[in-house]
Amino acid sequence: MLMAALGLGLAAPAFADLALATSKNCMSCHAVERKVLGPSFKDIAAKYKDDKGAANTLATKIIKGGSGVWGPVPMPANNQVSEADAKKLAAWVLSTK
Ligand code: HEC
Repeated sequence: MLMAALGLGLAAPAFADLALATSKNCMSCHAVERKVLGPSFKDIAAKYKDDKGAANTLATKIIKGGSGVWGPVPMPANNQVSEADAKKLAAWVLSTK
């Protein structure tokens, strides 16, 4: 079921995932092209481009939050995001490079 959701996320047009990210409040701290409070999604995609496990790691981080990777500012947990949506968002972030 998760793989199906991930497949859908990858097949969906990029703007649909931007809309999802906007609706989940991601874009109040992130932008695709530039750093806001959090790193730009392009920088994240570049950092993990050779990491095959990144989609899973990042999906978990999107839900639980994280700190210490990009600087002193932590990302709070995003409890409003389901596991399926987190996978879609992670796949989309990684596709923005
Ligand atoms: C309150 C601000 C804020 C919100 C809201 C937010 N982020 Fe973040 N995000 C951050 C910060 C700050 C970092 C850097 C954390 C670090 O250095 O580990 C980050 C890091 C990330 C990373 C990289 C994690 C890593 O370990 O490299 C991803 C992917 C990400 N955010 C995606 C999202 C998505 C998708 C959403 C929406 C569900 C979201 N963020 C909502 C602030 C935010």
